[in-house]
Amino acid sequence: MTRYDGRTALVTGGGRGIGRAICLRLASEGAAVAVVDRDLEAANSVAGEIASASGRAVALQADVTMPDQVQAMVREAEQALGPLDVLVNNAAATSATTVEATSPDDWDLELGVTLRAAYLAMKAVLPGMVERGKGAIVAIGSVNGRVYVGNPAYSAAKAGPVMWVKAMAVEYGPRGIRTNLVSPGSIRTENRSWTERLARDPEIFDKLARWYPVGRVGLPEDIAAAVAYLASDEASFVNGAELVVDGGLTAGMGPFVQEING
Ligand SMILES: NC(=O)c1ccc[n+]([C@@H]2O[C@H](COP(=O)([O-])OP(=O)(O)OC[C@H]3O[C@@H](n4cnc5c(N)ncnc54)[C@H](O)[C@@H]3O)[C@@H](O)[C@H]2O)c1
Repeated sequence: MTRYDGRTALVTGGGRGIGRAICLRLASEGAAVAVVDRDLEAANSVAGEIASASGRAVALQADVTMPDQVQAMVREAEQALGPLDVLVNNAAATSATTVEATSPDDWDLELGVTLRAAYLAMKAVLPGMVERGKGAIVAIGSVNGRVYVGNPAYSAAKAGPVMWVKAMAVEYGPRGIRTNLVSPGSIRTENRSWTERLARDPEIFDKLARWYPVGRVGLPEDIAAAVAYLASDEASFVNGAELVVDGGLTAGMGPFVQEING
């Protein structure tokens, strides 16, 4: 028996990066996975990887900021795989790097896909989970929701789930649904921000490593492992928690400590 035998999971933004790693990890432990992305080709590719490893997956296209599409993604996932046990709110995006450069559209887009979309997906899975009296929801936050490290609208949005998972935990814990948060540090993915930063400085990840007490930035698999724990029965007493997976970045200011110690 593996932790996810007979379980089903839906992962938003599952087509690449951290979402892809979460899909592959949950499937490798036995889950049937709905890979949701607005990029259907990317979702298909991940579902194909799972199928070729003898797993079970369905690829679904949805823009998770659109309430109708979110309702449809849950309906179609459950038609294809059965009732959902796990929801992972992973899709997000950012572009504006300073307060000055943040337009009202940036604000709406970044809060919309990061915060509102997660709320919409939770609302869509909750009736079924409540009826069955069980479920696990994991939100993907960020160190940006804890300390300021750039991208202000995204950071404001990522602070939201810190409180939202607590509200969920208190309100839905008694109904058998646990809600937790994973807050990653810098993770090597090909998202828009890292692609732009890498184009500017191909050494960026190596340079950032000095900020990380463990001496490296993270990998998508580091986050997938944390999600797989929190959504499993091993975490049955963990509810409303934030698991910071950042190699110690936000534990303190390493370069400051080095400087002060001489
Ligand atoms: N990469 C990092 O350094 C890092 C650090 C902290 C937190 N995170 C968080 O991890 C999560 C994944 O990040 P990533 O780096 O893997 O991103 P990514 O850009 O590589 O992948 C995100 C996926 O989400 C999809 N997506 C975006 N908007 C969508 C929408 N409206 N509807 C449906 N799908 C949508 C994209 O098509 C893409 O496949 C995000 O919540 C991000 O904020 C990432």
